[in-house]
Amino acid sequence: MRDVVNEIKHANHLVIFTGAGMSTESGLPDFRSENRGLWEKFNPDELANVQALENNREEFVNFYRYRLQEIKKFQPHAGHRILAKWEEQGLVKGIITQNVDGFHHDAGSHHVMELHGTFRAFHCNDCHKDFDPEVFFQGKDICDTCGGTIRPGIVLFGEMLPENVFIKAEEETLQADVFIVFGSSLTVTPANMFPMLAQERGAKLIIVNRDPTPLDRYADYVIRDKSIKEVLEEWDTQIKNAT
Ligand code: APR
Ligand code: ZN
Repeated sequence: MRDVVNEIKHANHLVIFTGAGMSTESGLPDFRSENRGLWEKFNPDELANVQALENNREEFVNFYRYRLQEIKKFQPHAGHRILAKWEEQGLVKGIITQNVDGFHHDAGSHHVMELHGTFRAFHCNDCHKDFDPEVFFQGKDICDTCGGTIRPGIVLFGEMLPENVFIKAEEETLQADVFIVFGSSLTVTPANMFPMLAQERGAKLIIVNRDPTPLDRYADYVIRDKSIKEVLEEWDTQIKNAT
């Protein structure tokens, strides 16, 4: 672990990449952990895509009202706040996240690239009129301008990632000399290409994830035996003691 702390301290361009595992210690379930992932309870093929929005509208709206309720219940944890502090100290140059919970922003991080969009913004699927999440949460899901369905500003399966965010994440990844993954199964494309791109460009790749991932064999360090929050608190203490 000491070597990793050295990598962090001496990095010129440290980029962080997070997945749902970053928020489980806040209380939010991830998607694919054994017996506790969200996709064990709900079928993403029936809910998390545009066809569901059109053909299965009521279930689609109920599912995302449930997701919004879950996210509203929980807060960022100490790990999110440490990453925000490291950004302020100039250690972290950017966070590329697959998460839509907005917890990195809430914890104080500024340079956050939300590859899969965010639950912090809702819009009409037809005319793209913006809506406040509260309006959706209170039960309104039909657009008053065109009658379309109000939906979260997240990327549904089969949809393209926001291009401007994707380009920024690529630029950050190309500059990275240290790239740390926290809490992702690295099974969803194209998000999972960023750690590989960093590693191919010669960056040190560090993966902190309880379960094995398909990219572990390319990583310089793989940390499985500790939770993300524990790892970040330990690293932060070692960095503080070393300064
Ligand atoms: N500490 C360390 N690892 C953890 C912790 C923790 N506290 N909690 C969960 N994990 C790990 C699990 O072992 C799992 O491999 O986090 C990983 C989360 O993987 P997924 O549930 O697949 O989440 P993610 O990789 O973010 O999914 C990517 O899939 O469904 C889509 O759009 C959704 O953005 C999501 C994408
Ligand atoms: Zn509309």
